[in-house]
Amino acid sequence: MTRRLALITGASAGIGAEFARQYAARGWDVALTARRADRLEKLALELEDRFEISATVIAQDLAVEGAVDSILAELQETGRHADALINNAGYGLPGTFFNTSWEEQATFLRVMLNAPCELVHKMLPDMVEHGYGRIINVASLVGYTPGSAGHTLYAPVKSALIKLSESVHAEAKRAGYNIHVTALCPGLTWTEFHDVNGTRARTNQAPEWMWMQAGPVVEAGLDAVDRGMPVVVPGAQNKGLATLAKLLPDPIARAVMAEQSRRFRDLKE
Ligand SMILES: NC(=O)c1ccc[n+]([C@@H]2O[C@H](COP(=O)([O-])OP(=O)(O)OC[C@H]3O[C@@H](n4cnc5c(N)ncnc54)[C@H](OP(=O)(O)O)[C@@H]3O)[C@@H](O)[C@H]2O)c1
Repeated sequence: MTRRLALITGASAGIGAEFARQYAARGWDVALTARRADRLEKLALELEDRFEISATVIAQDLAVEGAVDSILAELQETGRHADALINNAGYGLPGTFFNTSWEEQATFLRVMLNAPCELVHKMLPDMVEHGYGRIINVASLVGYTPGSAGHTLYAPVKSALIKLSESVHAEAKRAGYNIHVTALCPGLTWTEFHDVNGTRARTNQAPEWMWMQAGPVVEAGLDAVDRGMPVVVPGAQNKGLATLAKLLPDPIARAVMAEQSRRFRDLKE
């Protein structure tokens, strides 16, 4: 029997690498994509060795025009189709709308919003044809919180991924397709994310109870998509914060967010 295959973006580190490990441990084949080919090759070898699955490496920068088509063409060349898509690649852009260039913001939108939407849209027909599809869009807890000073488009993009997941999930359900779409909304997670965007020292001031390891974050995502949940917030602490964000009156929520971003966000001032 042919094994199922998961295409995972941002698989060279953090949450994406953990998705690859957990899919491989379940006996799935994986297609790993990110920019750093050396990291992907190393992970692919590790997974093939440990779990006796097949791992394909597709090195690609999602900021580049035509990136999604290139990834899908490389996958097609292997003669395989993806049963699952994990839209996980991402980064933070410190600073404000005032002190960052449009090029930086436009690149951010291409990687964080255009590419995930395009991957979902272009992979759905194949999933419909095969009668099976599982899609996880890695959003964030900040998709629920008000906008704040700094990292301007991060929260809006993550909100959009939550809504996208809910909508496509509802459309698939209505049409009777066996396709589940889930937005995974982690809070602070120990990965390279805050090292890459240079906010490690600042963010590490957040209390220990707010942090999760990538393992349980990914477990929550896989469990939710299996069960057909359109959104999941991993961890009791993050569930509590998401509920609070929904219940607080808007002006109070904005004031809390302003205080938190003053402490933890880098405005590049
Ligand atoms: N860590 C947190 O606290 C946290 C909280 C909530 C949500 N998230 C979300 O979780 C997701 C994964 O982040 P992480 O925490 O695992 O961070 P990470 O350890 O820094 O990993 C980010 C991954 O994204 C890839 N990536 C970044 N830019 C890319 C580009 N232009 N093209 C292709 N791949 C790119 C990186 O690979 P290359 O550099 O090799 O390209 C890397 O594999 C992100 O969407 C993030 O927004 C993280």
